[in-house]
Amino acid sequence: MVEWKDFSASGASSTSASHVSKLTTSWLRSQRYDPAAVAQKRIRAMPSPLLRTSPPPVLPFESLMQSEEALCNWLNTLADSGAAIISGAPLEQGTVAELAKKISPGGPMQTIYGSTWQVRADEVPINIAYSTVGLCLHMDLVYYESPPALQFLHCMRFDSQVSGGESTLLDYFAAAEQLRATDPNAFRTLCQLPGSFQKIHYNRENPVHLINRRPHIWVNPRTDDVIGGLWAPPFEAPPMLPPADMERYLEAYATFARILEDPDSQLRLTFRLKPGDILTFSNRRMLHGRMPFVQQPGAVRHLEGCYVAAEDFISTLQRTSLRVRGRMNETGLMLGSHLP
Ligand SMILES: [Fe+2]
Repeated sequence: MVEWKDFSASGASSTSASHVSKLTTSWLRSQRYDPAAVAQKRIRAMPSPLLRTSPPPVLPFESLMQSEEALCNWLNTLADSGAAIISGAPLEQGTVAELAKKISPGGPMQTIYGSTWQVRADEVPINIAYSTVGLCLHMDLVYYESPPALQFLHCMRFDSQVSGGESTLLDYFAAAEQLRATDPNAFRTLCQLPGSFQKIHYNRENPVHLINRRPHIWVNPRTDDVIGGLWAPPFEAPPMLPPADMERYLEAYATFARILEDPDSQLRLTFRLKPGDILTFSNRRMLHGRMPFVQQPGAVRHLEGCYVAAEDFISTLQRTSLRVRGRMNETGLMLGSHLP
């Protein structure tokens, strides 16, 4: 307990001259920032990556719609491992929006693609995602000031007469650590020089003109931990860099791209979704992509997708973790946070 003797002099609106604050020892302990405490927080802030040999955990849809404990488990899995597959979801359009409402009462994050969107091969695709072409590993909406924290992809139909079309995932933070270990200069260059990310598309129902310039890798300036980054080759503008920086930027970019695109990487997960699966993943930490596919006449591959904003994810993760587990999730604070 702390007694403030001359509380009214502090400018507080209390009429009493003194005030007593009750602080629990566990709260005081959580506010320690001495080197030993910071080291302990850092260990918890570096979750282990998903590997080819340890694919995303599978969680049943029904239980996380009904049980707060299951919801808490899912959100913590997303914060710690970056991805989870929700199985047994109903094959109805709008299911992803219902799932998003478990995190954000207002529903999915509204973006230039609307609230939810349909991924299937169109005859005249407006976007490469709506074709049968393979998609290289990337994050979505990197040209936003705050790209979505989560992305959901609900497999509505994936006929057996469709060959290819497997989903791919890769832990970007772990790949950045590989770059740091193998080419520290390239790592540092990509922490310092900004890439340029853009969406300039006037020939659409809602024209859009967005440019975002930020480095590809973000580190905590105190601990040097990787805490975020941006990677999306299809949405990169020409680098807006002076000639003196251009060569080392392009060399570092190419070195990192080789790590990210290595088909034999242990970090690269490849799997085929089945109807009723919802792939849920961190759009800030995991790159996602898709293998090219060929569909026989009449065969269909159809996913419905949506996003969840970072603020909604972090807030619900922490509130749910406190209620169910009695403590917050510290890895959830990695989404660009400079703590500890
Ligand atoms: Fe995407």
